[in-house]
Amino acid sequence: MAPGHGPVDSLEMGSDGKRAESSAAEIVFRGVTKRYPGRSAAAVDNLSLRIPAGEICVLVGPSGGGKTTAMKMVNRLIEITEGDILMDGQSVRSLEVIELRRRIGYVIQHVGLFPHMSIADNIATVPRLLGWSKARIHARVRELLELVGLDPVHDPDRYPRQLSGGQQQRVGLARAMAADPAVMLMDEPFGALDPITRERLQQEFLRLHAEIRKTVIFVTHDIDEAIKMGDRIAILREGGILAQYDTPDAILANPADEFVARFVGADRSLKRLSLKRLSDIELLAVPNGDNSTYPTVAASTTLRDALALMLEEGSRELAVVDEGKVRGLCSVEHVAALLAPERQQQE
Ligand SMILES: Nc1ncnc2c1ncn2[C@@H]1O[C@H](COP(=O)(O)OP(=O)(O)OP(=O)(O)O)[C@@H](O)[C@H]1O
Ligand SMILES: [Mg+2]
Repeated sequence: MAPGHGPVDSLEMGSDGKRAESSAAEIVFRGVTKRYPGRSAAAVDNLSLRIPAGEICVLVGPSGGGKTTAMKMVNRLIEITEGDILMDGQSVRSLEVIELRRRIGYVIQHVGLFPHMSIADNIATVPRLLGWSKARIHARVRELLELVGLDPVHDPDRYPRQLSGGQQQRVGLARAMAADPAVMLMDEPFGALDPITRERLQQEFLRLHAEIRKTVIFVTHDIDEAIKMGDRIAILREGGILAQYDTPDAILANPADEFVARFVGADRSLKRLSLKRLSDIELLAVPNGDNSTYPTVAASTTLRDALALMLEEGSRELAVVDEGKVRGLCSVEHVAALLAPERQQQE
C-alpha cells in the first residue's frame, strides 16, 4: 500500500479508535543464503532459525561473519539469494517493501539521525510517511521520548548535535519504535558508547522490552552483551555459518564445538553464574536458625557476584536477605554444584 494514505494508518487502530494490541511477530529463517555479486563464498550460508514472537535474538560472531547481512535481509535492505524469511508465516518477499518496513523498526550503528532535523522530526519520520495527523504525531513523539528517558517538553525541538551520544542513541530507539513495529532490528546499537552509558542503556532496553515485548534481532560482536541481552543467541562463524543457536545458559553450559567454546571464553562457567540470581535458586536452611555469623547479601545478587563476595569475605556461606529478612544460606559448594550436574543432564 502506498504511504500517505489513510488505510495504512487505520491498520494501527482498532474499530473503537484505540491502539490495536501491541504486536510481536515470529521470525523464521528458512535455509537463507546470501551471495554478493562477484563473490564465490557465501556471506550467509543456509541459515535456518526460528525466533519466537516477543523474544530478543542476538546475532553474534567475529567480524565478517554475516551478522549485518543476515539482519538486513529481514527488512530487505539486502535481497535474499536463496531460501526465505517468514514473518508470522508470511514470506518477507511477498510483502510490499513499504508495508514490511512499517512493521519493522531499525536501529543502526552510530545512530544515523538526520542532523538537520529536530529530534521530534527525526522520531516522526515513519509516522509522517504513513500520513498520521499532526496531533497524533505530536502525542506519539512525546510518549516515545518519555519511554526512552528523554525530556518530552524540551528535547523535541533540539537538534541531534545538541545531545550526547547516549541521548542520540535513545532518539534512534524512539524513532525505530515510532509506528509500533512488530519487529525491531538493532545493529550494534550500543557499540559506540562508553561502558557506563552502554550498561545503562542495556538495562533500560531490557526493562523497556519487558514492557513492549517486540521481537528483536540484535547484532553485536561482544559475547558479554549477547549473554546479557539475548533470550537466545545465534553464533555465526566466518562464511555466515550458524555455529550454535540456543539460550545463553545452554550455550555456556554446552558449547557445540571448539569454535564456540573459544568464542564464549574460558571463563564460561563464571559467565553462566552471572545469568542466575540468588532469588532464582533454592537456599539452604540456617542451622539452628542463627544467622548472626554470616555476611549478608541481597537476593537480587547474581551467583557470580555472590561467589566473588564469599571469596572477598573469606566466608564459605552467605545469608541471603530479601525485604529485610534472611531467607536462607548459599554456600560455595552450593554454587559449584549448580554448575556441574546440569551440564551432565544436558549431555
Ligand atoms: N555489499 C557487499 N558486497 C560484497 N560483499 C559484501 C558486501 N557487504 C558485506 N560483504 C561481505 O559479506 C561478509 C559478511 O559481511 P557482514 O557485514 O554481514 O558481516 P558482519 O558480521 O556484520 O561484520 P562486522 O562485525 O564487521 O559488522 C563479509 O565477508 C563482507 O566482506
Ligand atoms: Mg556488521
